[in-house]
Amino acid sequence: MVDTNDEWIVSRTGIKERHICAKDEASSDMAYEAGKKAMEMAGVKPEEIDFLITGTVTPDYRCPSASCIIQRKLGLINTGAMDLVAACAGFLHGVATADAFIKIGKYKKIMVIGVEKLSSITDYTDRNTCVLFGDGAGAVIIEPTEENKGILATYLKSDGRHSELLWIPNGGSAAPIQDLDDPKESIFLKMNGKEVYKHAVREMADASLKVLKEAGVEAEYLKLLVAHQANIRIIDATAKRLKIPKEKVFLNIAKYGNTSAASVPIALDEALREGKIEEGDLVLMTAFGGGLTWASALIRW
Ligand code: UT7
Repeated sequence: MVDTNDEWIVSRTGIKERHICAKDEASSDMAYEAGKKAMEMAGVKPEEIDFLITGTVTPDYRCPSASCIIQRKLGLINTGAMDLVAACAGFLHGVATADAFIKIGKYKKIMVIGVEKLSSITDYTDRNTCVLFGDGAGAVIIEPTEENKGILATYLKSDGRHSELLWIPNGGSAAPIQDLDDPKESIFLKMNGKEVYKHAVREMADASLKVLKEAGVEAEYLKLLVAHQANIRIIDATAKRLKIPKEKVFLNIAKYGNTSAASVPIALDEALREGKIEEGDLVLMTAFGGGLTWASALIRW
């Protein structure tokens, strides 16, 4: 489709495979599967979920929210639901929001989903982006606990001065589809990868240090770093800044590429199912994306 090659993609990004939705699958279909598995794992029934937060930039429709569609598909009859737009940091923004709701006693069981059908907004003639993105979903359920575990600290930050480094310039209220010469222009995500790269390394490390400091935890006690899987070199550089050794860094970018808001929950789920996270382990999650937005969360499993 474009002038690229496997050697360039693997050596510059670490990506070997990606998963792309079928034409008739929407974000809500992947979110349904992830949400169902999360409920099975947590032993929770749909009617027990009292709030649903979905991090996504690829909802099924511009209106209503993806969360309302997902709620219907999962049969979450007793839930409030909202989408949260923070690009690749969307899932961790959802986790931090859920944590705050739980801590003030507002809700008892919150499902947080990260889902993206990035193939629906990828320009397959643009080699700057089309070799990177994939589709996927992951979900967690968060509830209160009296035990010494759970979400220890979260940190959210954004810098809208750099919005145009990673964005969909057309098709919103600033440049409505009906005013465009070519409606196709309204769909595609554009990225200045080189600039985003620099911000990502600096800010994911900084956000991670902030949550470690808030929780009073030294990086050496971490069991696992679960970072947004955008580029293996970004993850390596972030881990290096945090002095986290390679064996404590979870990687699955080779299999999925960059799945934006779905990236961290997919990685978390795989790490857990592979036995890399056990009860009591300290897990650091971090993500960076368009906005610019970034986030970290420190949890004791
Ligand atoms: O998920 C949200 C956050 N997103 C990210 O964190 C992504 C951050 N950015 C990146 O991961 C990297 O910047 C990229 C993977 C997007 C690009 O890697 P890079 O090492 O920064 O490459 P570059 O843009 O500096 O380009 C290096 C060369 C250029 O050629 P010249 O000028 O050196 O001759 C590009 O034209 O690679 C060329 N190039 C490609 N070649 C083959 C750019 N894209 C491709 C490609 N295939 N797909």
